[in-house]
Amino acid sequence: MKAEQKILADASNLIDAAAEHFVSVARASIAKRGVFFVALAGGSTPKGLYQKLAMSPFVEQVDWSRVHLFFGDERCVAPTHDDSNFKMARLAMIDHIPVPAENVHRVPTEFGDAAVVAGHYAETIKQIMKEQPFDLVLLGLGPDGHIASLFPETPALEVTDHLVTSLFVEKFQSWRVTLTYPVINAARQVIVFIAGEAKAEIVRDITTEAVTGLPVQRLAPQGDYFWFMDKAAAGQ
Ligand code: 6PG
Repeated sequence: MKAEQKILADASNLIDAAAEHFVSVARASIAKRGVFFVALAGGSTPKGLYQKLAMSPFVEQVDWSRVHLFFGDERCVAPTHDDSNFKMARLAMIDHIPVPAENVHRVPTEFGDAAVVAGHYAETIKQIMKEQPFDLVLLGLGPDGHIASLFPETPALEVTDHLVTSLFVEKFQSWRVTLTYPVINAARQVIVFIAGEAKAEIVRDITTEAVTGLPVQRLAPQGDYFWFMDKAAAGQ
């Protein structure tokens, strides 16, 4: 499915534009439904965005007491581990915004077995969101076209009867937990956030359809769908 592309001059402009967009989506969700359910992306790209959201003028524009923070995926490591997406988001943003602790829903990796962790996380999503979809799912893009932890040629891509699934990622020799396509596609809005020259090749291969069938290409968001990227990632 084709996304609306927003291409910004450089990483700094990209972060500012994405922060403004995040705030506007959050404010609209809260105004309309009294709550903002968002699934955060992991990896390194969104760190700058999270830091920006925790700073003026953005931080004061969101009623964080109405925000519930979830994670699109997580590495099966302790929340204190340097590989933890939760730790990255906590240091970059969560520790610096007035979001109630009970509104921060990290993936409970302490349950050990990845499948058990995935089951618990799915229950948390159902318990907190009831039948509501995510208002926003933020995703990064891997150089192999993965999003969240939906990696190419893995069984996770075929899971349609669960909100969350687990998988062993051979190339990283690590277990992951990830939202599945149905829950991502059901979101009111999906943003893929891409920055840097290192992503130019995969972005070009996808936009020219030189490559097909990649996990990001199998996304079919029912709501608004954007790619936010800088010119370096867009190959400009
Ligand atoms: C993760 C992320 C993953 C990430 C992409 C891009 O757990 O690693 O969820 O999907 O978004 O791999 O990562 P970078 O932003 O580090 O390039």
